[in-house]
Amino acid sequence: MPTNRVGTSVRALRGSELRCRGWRQETLLRLLENTLENGEDPANLVIYGGFAKAARDDQSLRRTMEALLNLEANETLVIQSGKPVGVFPGHSGAPLVLMATSNLVGRWANEAEFDRLEQRGLIMWGGYTAGDWQYIGSQGIVQGTYQTFAEVAGLHFGGSLVGELVLTAGLGGMGGAQPLAVLMAGGVSLCVEVDPAKIERRVQTGYLQDWTDSLSEALEWVDQARAAGDPRSIGLLGNASTVFPELLERGVVPSIVTDQTSTHDLRRGYIPGGLTPGEAEVLRQTDPERLVSLGKMSVRDHLSAMIEFMDRGAVVFEYGNNIRAQGRDAGVERAMEIPGFVHAYIRPLFCRGIGPFRWIAVSGDERDIDVIDAMVVGRFEGSIAAAWIPLARAHVRSQGLPSRIAWLGHGERTDLALMVNEAVASGAVRGPVAFTRDHLDAGGVAQPLRETEGMLDGSDAVSDWPLLDALLNAGNGADLVAIHGGGGGYSGYFQSAGVTVIADGTPEAATRLHSVLTGDTGIGVLRYADAGYDEALDAATASGLCVPPLRDGP
Ligand SMILES: NC(=O)c1ccc[n+]([C@@H]2O[C@H](COP(=O)([O-])OP(=O)(O)OC[C@H]3O[C@@H](n4cnc5c(N)ncnc54)[C@H](O)[C@@H]3O)[C@@H](O)[C@H]2O)c1
Repeated sequence: MPTNRVGTSVRALRGSELRCRGWRQETLLRLLENTLENGEDPANLVIYGGFAKAARDDQSLRRTMEALLNLEANETLVIQSGKPVGVFPGHSGAPLVLMATSNLVGRWANEAEFDRLEQRGLIMWGGYTAGDWQYIGSQGIVQGTYQTFAEVAGLHFGGSLVGELVLTAGLGGMGGAQPLAVLMAGGVSLCVEVDPAKIERRVQTGYLQDWTDSLSEALEWVDQARAAGDPRSIGLLGNASTVFPELLERGVVPSIVTDQTSTHDLRRGYIPGGLTPGEAEVLRQTDPERLVSLGKMSVRDHLSAMIEFMDRGAVVFEYGNNIRAQGRDAGVERAMEIPGFVHAYIRPLFCRGIGPFRWIAVSGDERDIDVIDAMVVGRFEGSIAAAWIPLARAHVRSQGLPSRIAWLGHGERTDLALMVNEAVASGAVRGPVAFTRDHLDAGGVAQPLRETEGMLDGSDAVSDWPLLDALLNAGNGADLVAIHGGGGGYSGYFQSAGVTVIADGTPEAATRLHSVLTGDTGIGVLRYADAGYDEALDAATASGLCVPPLRDGP
């Protein structure tokens, strides 16, 4: 089979060779390969988040790749939790790939049921972008992380993190973006990570500058950098559940405290205090209940320390890893006093449909990204995205196929994609470009402990919105549409929708890009307008997409 699988590692094909029956199919195949290329543990098909996978098992991966190689432009491949189940005749305006991943009927959406099904090979957890073949490595989360720290700086530190210390933990697939994002915002980060291999990986890929296993040495480096006003990123080999309390004992109060260890699942990703990752893995296989009960005790210490930092004046927030709910369940009474990052900092952007939009150049040619970077800066002057591009060019190393992420909003995404499609047609961009986004976006998700926490109208748990988003995207002919449920450690915690649409330079692609990207961001704006947010009401009125009247008239 002419796919780029060599042993257990996969590398996305670059260049002009067409293995599939069209460039749209070839693009999706390369995105799948790229997701595996960038994954944390590709041998086990695990991409990030401890166990978010790109395919259910090796056989499913092979069959999916074969199906993509043979897929006609007027057919639809249907994938159920990472396993290909059928190819249907459709038409050239229909999606090429439809997926439903980790969805369980409400009452059965719990960890025990998910585990039972997973052990029987009937379901897979796809995270957000792993299951949908949209993962572009830690770079995919860098701007979101930078944006969050920039918003925190604006609200609490006069707009700058210079001289401020950010304490966090977890340097995995997503969390690995934290040191670089803080560095770009001018601050000093101390990042606690229990696995030396993860620390090494972040140093090698340019996300982390230095590391040590000595807390005293790390604190010396912190003091020097803060005193000099130098941006600096420092890794500390250790366990957050013991290091955070030790910092309190030493009287250290960071400016900002957060965390991105994999606390969303105590059975796989989170390492309890006193254990190495290897010892935790042995326990997982021999006595998983003990692993969870040790994990609960550690989360209690870890989260209690975060609350104490908050009481001592630090700005503390949860960074989407569910540590508050895990801590609450483990008996930390004040767990939910810590704010979630979307509610505290990101929601106003979602109200305007602004979120993490990404594009991937399947040519493999970095110059394609240069061309698109210039378009963003020229077209969206004064926007968050235009300010971000020079920073990204200076600091973010490419991983896998050349790609970029930038926070663009309703209307902007459509404009950019149409410009790129024209550039593909003219040859200024050397190959097709896939446009996609994180599920953490205005229209893409309902997660009452993260993206939709504390909604103005109390609609946090209504998951009609991401389902409508997926329906709209499929109806509008996106190339790939996926519906995800919370499965696994996040059982019942979210419902989300993923979408990918490809600019291959054709007029048909222009039609698809226009309708899909307008609908995908538009439904997001309407979701927040419906909840009563003023910024969203204004954006919805300006977009002309709403069914009037949006506001109660006289
Ligand atoms: N902020 C966001 O937008 C966002 C997006 C996606 C995921 N997340 C959440 O962030 C968390 C991290 O995601 P990831 O993809 O980086 O996961 P990952 O599993 O790739 O990385 C987690 C890291 O934490 C380390 N770790 C585990 N327990 C530890 C402990 N007690 N002390 C120190 N280090 C420890 C692990 O060794 C690993 O390197 C997940 O819970 C994920 O769901 C957040």
